[in-house]
Amino acid sequence: MIHAGMKIDLQKLPFALKPFLLSLFLSLSFSAFLFFQTPPHSLHKPALLPPDLRIRPGFSSYDAYINRQLNKTLNPKLRKIWTTRDWDRKVRVFSEFFDNLKLRGFLSNDSKALCVGARVGQEVAALKRVGVNDSIGIDLVPYPPLVIKGDFHHQSFDDRSFDLEFSNVFDHALYPWKFVGEIERTLKPGGICVLHVSLSRRADKYSANDLYSVDPLKELFKVSELVEVRRIDGFGLDTEVVFRKKMNK
Ligand SMILES: *[C@@H]1O[C@H](CO)[C@@H](O)[C@H](O)[C@H]1NC(C)=O
Ligand SMILES: *[C@@H]1O[C@H](CO)[C@@H](O)[C@H](O)[C@H]1NC(C)=O
Ligand SMILES: *[C@@H]1O[C@H](CO)[C@@H](O)[C@H](O)[C@H]1NC(C)=O
Repeated sequence: MIHAGMKIDLQKLPFALKPFLLSLFLSLSFSAFLFFQTPPHSLHKPALLPPDLRIRPGFSSYDAYINRQLNKTLNPKLRKIWTTRDWDRKVRVFSEFFDNLKLRGFLSNDSKALCVGARVGQEVAALKRVGVNDSIGIDLVPYPPLVIKGDFHHQSFDDRSFDLEFSNVFDHALYPWKFVGEIERTLKPGGICVLHVSLSRRADKYSANDLYSVDPLKELFKVSELVEVRRIDGFGLDTEVVFRKKMNK
């Protein structure tokens, strides 16, 4: 609002100033437009992918990619192993891991937590075991009550829903920038994202990308800060990366 006393009489301004003021006004409006249009996180493919991140070629369509992922997720032999032979050992190791996140101040019993690409929800069971009751997982195939149906490229949750998001399936993302953008969108300001990734070992034939260093993650996370990187021995994954979403985003 312009105060009456400050009102500028356009008629009295020098002639040459008018086009200047007009263009100033237009460029300011356009900048404001861009500012409010641009989401803080990135769901769009960067013009140039970071060199240490390679998308595997060979998917003719998004459906072809999803079907390939479903082929592993629905595999009855694997599901049997995940829910029986694997269950106790994995839930125990994940529980130790989440207890450790508590000690480091990244997680508490009050946290609302999401496990991205949780398959049968071993990590969700672990969260509940250590007292983080408000936890849920998403995957293409639901496994109630621990895992609900969801696509990590298009999360169904509102902006700023979670205090913590954990994932060990970054390598399965066909669009890593969307995978990360959706995590940043649905994390609360100050929320924590913990990724377990493999930098040295190529994952499996269902992987959709290969990551060779932490640098690409630093580029993909647009509104978060890298807080920790450490080596782990996590079911074939060798590196834990912790990001914190900025408070004002
Ligand atoms: C996965 O693919 C294999 C071989 O291509 C096929 O035999 C099998 O039926 C598929 N499984 C599922 C669950 O789609
Ligand atoms: C969190 O929950 C666990 C499991 O119920 C409990 O043992 C622990 O004392 C709780 N921690 C706090 C700080 O309340
Ligand atoms: C979390 O769930 C456990 C087990 O159901 C329960 O004993 C505990 O009181 C719950 N904690 C909170 C804070 O609701």
